[in-house]
Amino acid sequence: MSLTILPEGRTLAVGPGISVLEACREHDIDLPGICGGRGRCRECRVTVIGRDAAVSALDKALLEPGDLSRGWRLSCQLSVDGDLTVELPPVSLKLLDPGVVVPQLESVEPVIRDVVVDLPAALGESDRPAASLLDDALLEKGIRVERRSLAALRELGLALSRRQTRLRCLLHEGTLLDVRVPSSSPVYGLAIDIGTSTVSAALLDLSTLAMLSVETARNPQGAYGGDFMSRIAFAMEKEENLLELHNKIVGGINRMIERLVMSYGLARNDIVLVTVAGNAVMHHLFFGLDVKTLGGFPFRPVLNELAVVPAAELALRLSPATPVVGLPLISGYIGADTVGVVVALDLLARSDTVIAVDVGTNAEVALVHRGKLYVCSAPAGPAFEGAQMACGTQARPGAITKIAIDDKRRELRIATVEEKPPFGIAGTGIVDAIAELARVGVLDDSGRMLETNDWPAWLRERAHLAGEMKAFVFAHDADNRPLYVHQGDVRELQLAKAATATAIHYVMAAANVTAAELDRVYVAGAFGSYLDPVSMLRIALLPDVPRERVEFIGNAALAGAVLATLSRRHLENAVRVAREAVRVDMATDESFQDVFVDKLRLAH
Ligand code: FES
Repeated sequence: MSLTILPEGRTLAVGPGISVLEACREHDIDLPGICGGRGRCRECRVTVIGRDAAVSALDKALLEPGDLSRGWRLSCQLSVDGDLTVELPPVSLKLLDPGVVVPQLESVEPVIRDVVVDLPAALGESDRPAASLLDDALLEKGIRVERRSLAALRELGLALSRRQTRLRCLLHEGTLLDVRVPSSSPVYGLAIDIGTSTVSAALLDLSTLAMLSVETARNPQGAYGGDFMSRIAFAMEKEENLLELHNKIVGGINRMIERLVMSYGLARNDIVLVTVAGNAVMHHLFFGLDVKTLGGFPFRPVLNELAVVPAAELALRLSPATPVVGLPLISGYIGADTVGVVVALDLLARSDTVIAVDVGTNAEVALVHRGKLYVCSAPAGPAFEGAQMACGTQARPGAITKIAIDDKRRELRIATVEEKPPFGIAGTGIVDAIAELARVGVLDDSGRMLETNDWPAWLRERAHLAGEMKAFVFAHDADNRPLYVHQGDVRELQLAKAATATAIHYVMAAANVTAAELDRVYVAGAFGSYLDPVSMLRIALLPDVPRERVEFIGNAALAGAVLATLSRRHLENAVRVAREAVRVDMATDESFQDVFVDKLRLAH
């Protein structure tokens, strides 16, 4: 059977009983499936072209009748039962750019040693192996070689046969990676942050310490579920699934490398170092390590120390010996992304009291007080990404990212990605929506949507009934369908915000710090400045501090990986962070439930 995908026009050979979403997964076609194909998120919808397709019960539950008659179906529920053509929704790979803030490094001790050595001029008279002569020449510069890549040995042999005795050597720790004819041509590093939803890669010039470019793409594992628990569940179904998830992320990173190499006209062997940050599950899946024990108590990782693996072992399309460094994990539930954030902010060197909150599918919190570092993490779920919300969407062009209710002028303002006509509400828009509805009295502090008669009169026309749930309409899409937030959406977001606020509560309690003592609250994550600090403070997602103490720092996990690629001190810092951080365990605390319930409230 064949499945044709528009607008790409690709035709896939598909076995019977395979869903359209599964076929897209198999062929690396970017189609989001945040709920992992369970028929809950609507994100996987496609349009069936040229024929009728059966309407499943979940299609009926999630899609409007008008959409069904236009051929919309949930691709996770649509089996390929004959030749089929579907059109994908207008997905843009352009994701929110959270920005990467990296402090200017003046001079560093580099992670990659790049040195020029001279072999003895009377080389021809010696029968000593060339490798041993090179070892001596490097030792004279204080560098001891412990291992050599095959590529380096091959280049060494070729250089000597050309009577080239002045050689440029590239080394990582004790490993001789490459031998070249001396030149000033730069070599490059890649820093990668593997997030549950998005993957970002920064290309770095290791000679000038400049960050040249940042590529961001959706994590191709997204089709297996929006949060890491669904990836663990998939990996646990059967052993091959672990390999499938591993191959997906490696494939995605290879495509990013391809784009960077093409756009900068680089040779692949010019990329001589890769550093990877990510939460524990993304870290393990990237290295192909089993994730079963990360899914439940005691959350045991296979490995938590700094990992160094040659690119060939991961099938990364780089020079085979290129070292791929996985930043260490703090524990099985506090990952290398938290380590990256701490390194980026140099928290171990801070004498003030600051907290960093990485808002996303997994909330990561780090607090430093009197030189001691406390860390905590909590699964918040994909609600901040708009997943599982009635009109929620990922932040694509046309997604509503900001909402403000101006009660003086009696108007409602929205902002969309790229100012395109609205078609859904992104997670940041839902945070704004809930903060604003609570402020104007449509929601009470418990998150309950009041009876319409109790709303401000000028807003009552925005009342809507979504199934049996009360809803507030913020806009209409191009087909005049209402874009709303309903009571269930409010509850979903409350759960995510409570998970984050609870993690914050526990690190502050462990350090015995009050909100008034916090000199700074840093907000990291893929949403960047799309999140409104006023809304975050209003719904008590952040500690109760003045607005001016809140600072967005973009993708700080990536910034940490950048620093650890450029500078040995920062890489060593990452190891120190993983060793010295005090892990705050909240799940075993007796009052956990009470704290969590309190944090559901939309007020401090
Ligand atoms: S509804 Fe199909 S993947 Fe979520």
